[in-house]
Order: sequence, then structure tokens, then C-alpha cells
Amino acid sequence: MAKIKQNSYVLFFYNDSKKWLVKISKNDQLHTHIGVMKHGDAIGKEYGSRLVTNKDKYVYLFEPTIHDFVMKMQHGTQIVYPKDLGYIVARTGITSGQKVVEIGTGSGSLTSFLAGIVKPRGHVYTYDVEPKFMKIAEKNIKKAGMSKYITMKEFDFKIEKLVHVLVQNEFSDIECTEQILRHIEAREGKTRHSFRGIGHTTYLAYARKSFFDKKPAKKSTRVKTKTVSKKKVYSSKK
Ligand SMILES: C[S@@+](CC[C@H](N)C(=O)[O-])C[C@H]1O[C@@H](n2cnc3c(N)ncnc32)[C@H](O)[C@@H]1O
Repeated sequence: MAKIKQNSYVLFFYNDSKKWLVKISKNDQLHTHIGVMKHGDAIGKEYGSRLVTNKDKYVYLFEPTIHDFVMKMQHGTQIVYPKDLGYIVARTGITSGQKVVEIGTGSGSLTSFLAGIVKPRGHVYTYDVEPKFMKIAEKNIKKAGMSKYITMKEFDFKIEKLVHVLVQNEFSDIECTEQILRHIEAREGKTRHSFRGIGHTTYLAYARKSFFDKKPAKKSTRVKTKTVSKKKVYSSKK
């Protein structure tokens, strides 16, 4: 297991509802209802080790996954949650090395997740119409360590009547879904479905490009977009 250093990200895990994602800074402390934890005490420990708070409570020092970054990220918008992220990748078949275009960066949850899949040779090009959300997304993407695999641009995509436009542009296998997630409470002798669940978070729409006939379409039905100035390109690519 890797060791925790200055500036490492660590998930201080007490239980499923009490966990804190922290960037280690030697002189900082984390104050919580289960006690105070000194960042300095985590330095040099292996991910997965335990730390004791001043109230004698144990927390585990986990290496954050992309799921942790997504769940703890600053929300400027509604985000795409992990339950939907996995299905999107399974349904679209996105794999390492691919180039992906995303419309609606929002808070950068899906963007970070997709970058984690396509990296190190693939890239995500993401567009949003709202600069204030893009600033938040930029911070979240940086925190998740995905900046160099993502290019962000401010752009207004005029997409309306999605299914109609997809059919017009010769897409097939069109599917619109939403995912519902329900936990199982696994306890000896009394395992049961949880009464808690996550219902609606987002609608998902999928389609595959197909060719209805062999001749290219005479008239383009492309959606019109406005031009963006260079100034509005947010890219942390070196
Ligand atoms: C629900 S949020 C996306 C959440 C994001 N996928 C995430 O996981 O964090 C929808 C985003 O679409 C953007 N948006 C809405 N209309 C748009 C348009 N015409 N062109 C580009 N982006 C647009 C909004 O500004 C907003 O940030």
C-alpha cells in the first residue's frame, strides 16, 4: 500500500455516513463530532491504516476513489451520481484511449469519471453554457487529478427534441432510462432491503449511429451553435 504524504488526498472514514475527504497539510487538524484528527499523524502511514481521535474513536485512512471525489465534490448543479455513471459506461462502451464529447459539464462529476476511464491516452472534450458552473467543475476536476485529460469550452448547444433529432440524423437503438438504487442491509439473521433508496437523479438517453441508406443525406440537419472566442477555452492541458 502507498504511504500518505504532504498534499495527499485521504478519505477519513468512520462509517458510511461520517467520512471526510481531506488534502493533507502537515499543520492542519480535522475537527469533527468524533474528535480531532491531526493531519500530521496521517503522514507516513499506509492507506488503509487506522488513526485514533482525541475522543478515542478510530477512523480508517482510505485512498480516495473517483466515487469518493464525486460524492464529496462541490455541487454547482445537479450531478450525475455513481449509480448512473457505471451504466453510462456500460451502455456506451467507453474504454481507455477513446475521445469523448460531453455536453453540459455541470459540476464535472461525469467529466471526471469519464476521464478516469479514457486516460492516459484518451481525452474528454466537455462543453457548458454557464461560466459559473465551469469554474466549479474546473476545481472539482483538478481535485480528482483529471485536469490533463480534459478540455473545457464554453459553448451553447441548441439541442431540442432529442429523440426526434436523433431519428432525423439516422440514429437507432434509442433508449431513455433512469436508474433506481436500493441498498441491502446485510446483518446476521436479518438481512433485508433498506427502506432508503435513491430514486430520480437524472434521465439517460442512448443512441447508436446507423445508416438508413447508403447515400449521404442531401440536407444537413445539424444543430446550429454560436461561435466561441478563444478566451472562453478552459484547458489545463500543458
Ligand atoms: C445537470 S447539469 C450536468 C451535470 C454534470 N453532468 C455532472 O455530472 O456534474 C446540466 C448542465 O448543462 C448545462 N447546459 C444547459 N443547457 C446547455 C446548452 N444549451 N449548451 C451547453 N450546456 C448546457 C447547464 O449549464 C448545466 O451545467
